[in-house]
Formats: sequence, C-alpha cells, structure tokens
Amino acid sequence: MNRIEGRVKVTGLATYAAEYPVEDVTYAFPVQSQIAKGRVRHVDAQDALAMPGVLAVLSGEDPPPLASGADGELALFQSREVAYRGQIVAAVVADTYENARAAAAVVRVDYDSDDHDVSLRADHPGLYKPDHVNPAYPTDSEKGDIEAGLAEAATVVDVVYETPVLHNNPMEPHAALACWDDEGGLLVYDTAQGTTLSRDTLAQVFGLPKERVRVVSRHVGGGFGSKGTTRPQAVLAAMAARVVGRPVKIVLTRQQMFDVTGYRTPTIQRLRLGADAQGRLTALEHVAYEQTSTLEEFAEQTATPTRIMYATPALRTAHRLVRLDVATPSWMRAPGECPGMYALESAMDELAYALGMDPVELRVVNEPETEPDSGLPFSSRNLVGCLREGARRFGWEHRDPTPGVRRDGEWLIGTGVAASTYPARRRPSKARAVVEDDGDFLVQVAAADIGTGARTALTRIAAEALGVAPERVHVELGDSDLPEAPVAGGSMGTASWGSAIVRACEELKSDGKEGLADTTEEVRGDAAFSRHAFGAQFVEVRVSSVTGEVRVPRLLGVFAAGRIVDPKLARSQFIGGMTMGMGMGLMEETLTDEEFGGFLRRDLAQYHVPACADVPDVEAVWLDERDAELNPMASKGIGEIGIVGTAAAIGNAVYHATGHRVRELPITPDKILMPRF
Ligand code: MOS
Repeated sequence: MNRIEGRVKVTGLATYAAEYPVEDVTYAFPVQSQIAKGRVRHVDAQDALAMPGVLAVLSGEDPPPLASGADGELALFQSREVAYRGQIVAAVVADTYENARAAAAVVRVDYDSDDHDVSLRADHPGLYKPDHVNPAYPTDSEKGDIEAGLAEAATVVDVVYETPVLHNNPMEPHAALACWDDEGGLLVYDTAQGTTLSRDTLAQVFGLPKERVRVVSRHVGGGFGSKGTTRPQAVLAAMAARVVGRPVKIVLTRQQMFDVTGYRTPTIQRLRLGADAQGRLTALEHVAYEQTSTLEEFAEQTATPTRIMYATPALRTAHRLVRLDVATPSWMRAPGECPGMYALESAMDELAYALGMDPVELRVVNEPETEPDSGLPFSSRNLVGCLREGARRFGWEHRDPTPGVRRDGEWLIGTGVAASTYPARRRPSKARAVVEDDGDFLVQVAAADIGTGARTALTRIAAEALGVAPERVHVELGDSDLPEAPVAGGSMGTASWGSAIVRACEELKSDGKEGLADTTEEVRGDAAFSRHAFGAQFVEVRVSSVTGEVRVPRLLGVFAAGRIVDPKLARSQFIGGMTMGMGMGLMEETLTDEEFGGFLRRDLAQYHVPACADVPDVEAVWLDERDAELNPMASKGIGEIGIVGTAAAIGNAVYHATGHRVRELPITPDKILMPRF
C-alpha cells in the first residue's frame, strides 16, 4: 500500500506538534547549563525580563511546582544541582520565538562548579552491576565454564570493540504545544512515540489524574527512540503555560536535541571466543561497559543478543555501568542489539579468519537447536535460510577470502557479512472498531505513526480482519483519548496494536455495530518460546587507498521476520534501518567534550548521516515466514532489525578490502590511513 498520509505529508498539509493553530500562543526557549557538574548559585533574570515581549523567566529561583518522583530529566528547576552540561536550568517565555530566544541569551546564571567526569573507561572505579538491563533483562548470564572452554579451544579470539555516543536525528525536532483549560485540564501537542505513555508521564509529573491530560501526536517526523519517553520540552511547555496563563509552544533547536533528547550510550565491549578446529564454539563471552547519568539509570542491553545467537557449551554475558556527569542515555533504534551485534558479528568474522573458514559457514556450523542461554525453543528461526539466500543473491560463492588483494585503481574492494537479530515482542493494547453512518469502518487506537507507515499497516490489518477493501477502513491514531496503546518502540507497535485491532474487528463482525478489544489477558504466557526475527547483511565496500574514504556500492539484507504485513512499507523499514546502520558504520559519532562536559558536534554539518548518494544500491528481501506463536497476523517486528548487523558487515568488508581491522566505530578515513604512518 501507499502511505495513507503520504499526500498530506508531501504537500505540507500534515499538522505536526508545533503547527497547531492555537490562539494567544506564546513561546519558550531554554537556558542550558554551562557547567558539567555543580550547583546553580543564582539566576539573574532582570535583564531578560526587561527585554521586549518577555512574559516570564522560569528557574530554580522560584520553581513552579511539580509532583515529586518525576524522572530526573523531567523534574525541571526542582533542584539546583547540575548533572550535565546542557541541562535546562532556566527558560524564557515571550510573545514571539525570537523574543524568547533573544532574552534567553541574557539570562545570567552563576554556578558553583565541581570537577566533572564524562569519560567512559573499562577500568573506571565507579563501574557497577545494574539490577537489570533495558527493558527488564537479567544483567548477567552464565552457562558452562568459559575458562575451560577457552583452554580447550583450537583457536581463541580475544578482542575489544568500541562504539561512540550516537544521536537520533529525526527530521522533526522535538516540540510541544501546551494549553491548560479553565478546569485545570492539560492538552499537549507533543512529538511522542506513544500518546498513552506521554499522557501518563505528564499526569504523574504534574500530579493530575490521567483523565485531565490529553496528548495529541497525529504526525511525528521520526523518533527512533528519542521520542519514546517524554522529553523535557513537553514538561517545560506545560509548566510555562501554567505560569503565564497562555498556551506555550517550544521547539528545540537541533543543537538542543543533542543535549536533552537522549543518545545511544558509548560502549566498550570485550569478546572472548574459543572454537575447535571445525569452527564449533567452545566458549563465548561478551562483557559490555556503558555509561549512565547521575540523574537516572539507563542500562543498555548490549550483550543480550549474544545469549541467543550461537550454540556453545560455555556462554557468559555481563553489563557494567558507570554514572558520569552526562545526560541520561536512552533508546536509539535497536538499543542493545545494534551495538552488541556490531561487536559479536565483527568478532565472529575475526574467528572465521583465524580458523581459515568462510564466515557464512562459521555461522551455520554454530546454529543452535534451542536458545543457547535459556534452552527455550525458538518460535521460529531462519537465520541459516537468510545467510544462504543472501549468499546466493550476493554471489558469495565466488569470493576469494584473502584480504587486501582486490584493487581497481586507487580503490581496494572487499565484501563482508554479518547476522542480525531482534526480539519479537508484543504488549497489551486496546482498540475499538465501529461501523460509521456511511457503512465504512472506523478503527481507533492510541498508536503512533512516527514515519513507519503504521497508519497504513493497521488499515490493512483491519481491512483483512473485516474482509473489506482498505479504502473502507479509516484508522484514527496519535491521541491519548483513543483506546490505550503501547509506544511505537521495540519493533512491537504493529504486533501490539494490530492484535488488538484484529480482536476488535472480530468482535465488530459478530456484534454488527462495535468491537472493543483489550489484549492484556492474551499477552500473558510469553515465556514458552524464544521469539526473535533474524537476518543477514551482505556488503561490498570500496576503500580509497589515497583518502581512506569507504564507499558502499552494494548493501543487501535478507530477513526472516514473520509474515510481512505490507511489502512496500516493510521494504522502507528494512532499508531505512540498513541506511542508518551504514551511518553507524562509517559516519555517525558524537564527541564528548572532556574539558567542559557535554557534547561536541551538535549539528548535521558535523554529525554526518548517509544521504542518497551514499546508498546507491541498498536492497532488502525476506523469506516467507509465518510465526503463528506471536500474534494473529503471524508477523514479527521490522522497525529495528535492519540497523542490526549492518555496521559489522561493513567493518568486515573493510577488513576484506584492506587487511586492516578497525575496532572502533565509525570507520572514518583517518582510521584507514593511520596504520600506514
Ligand atoms: Mo525504538 S529505540 O524501540 O523507539
């Protein structure tokens, strides 16, 4: 299907959070901390208040009240402590955006500054073991004897891989427009990946009953996780609107987004792999070191994919975290699986070379019968099928494994492969389906379409459930007043909302007028199977021996992700993820400012993401898989698996091209050229 909202989007008619016409609207602009750690001693708002159009300056001097217990990133002005450079410490509200921004520049903030620490190290004395990792996995796992497995191995690989801070860069900046009504009810147009969650969070932060809060996010211009949890702009807009008694709009600048909308934690990952002469793993250990803030704990599940990938008698995974004077890391497309599989799949490639074995065959040889960590049966697992189909399509059989020997003028040529995986989950959701006066069907669910095509996919699911043409189905989403639904995240939106829609449509068919569904009960019993999507990424690179530039003329992903609801929408999700994976492999990196705290490279001029010219040939295909264990659609999630494995496949191809193994992302020209000097 074509996107239902495609026309309104490309003609500019789709209304995003900051674009709702609201009378009497005012504008807020944040003032951000200039220090990385310490306390705000005094905020002098006098000059700002004298500027044209200024209505108020909010700060810890006279903090507008919030309910206690709010997330530290959202408890604006409630404490004088500064947790990171860039934290919001004040805000100006004015009649225009320009006046608010100009006045914010003259708010004077004095600090008592402490020494800060913003550097992740694998030997940091502050490393600790969190209680669990995101969202609720055990922190560590251990099966068998790692040391014994390594001791008996014919070949051992012991390597450290590092990934940098990465930032989501959705096209639509984080924005909120907040209005209070005369009865104390709050309406927020927000850039949320889930209006139910955003409503619940705002209700909690402001101490309101849920019924008094409404969040609307009809169109969201990308999120990738950065809009999955409520971000400070929504709280600030609502707080400021209460103070000035008028609606308040706030749109973060791209630079501010880098500071306060979350980021992917940097990782240091040590992998130890042992294998016998046939390539069968005798031991597999994956330890991840990551950071969080002093405000909140976010422990990314980096090593968890290693628990499900390969058969081995000894398997150990662990996560260690350190609290630094940084913003709290958060979700970015495939948190955990993405950086973790980068390291695991790179190390597997190193093992293949050490064994003199084809990297596809190494993975096939280590295919497990059941989930290696838990022993649970897989609901379905077609990794080998993806590898074989990818190898066939890519022309893998003609590959000469020797590194650094193919050359076309200045260009060194290589190919690489990596596996990918992502959990197939679902969460409880409600939905409503009714017959409208004209005989068409209205389907309501507080789902979010953040650019994924969810609105269209859900229309198709409802049409199939009702046995009518999609044109007769109208899906309404993006509003917390609709039936409660989980966030667009964790690649489980379609599975969660779609299940509820199927049930609501079934009930509508028997009732004749209305169907209401709540899947809370049927989602229990998730523990019987290991449920994951799988895939294989194949990459060709050309590396300039003169400049060190890496180009990717071919990128192929083959996925086994359950039944594909709509091929056109799915392809977009897969190739979008793969393109983002190329960014991770070659370009994306936010530098931490060691001296002053905060981040360097806070704009798209310096934080590079792939553009069209970088992806001349990116293709995604899939196996015919139906997973009846998961949901009524027999589908798995597809939003995140495309990014998983791509960076490893690129790094493996760079090694094949150059004979040089880069173990720190991104693989920028300096890292290609430096070894020669
Ligand atoms: Mo995605 S990181 O689950 O929004």
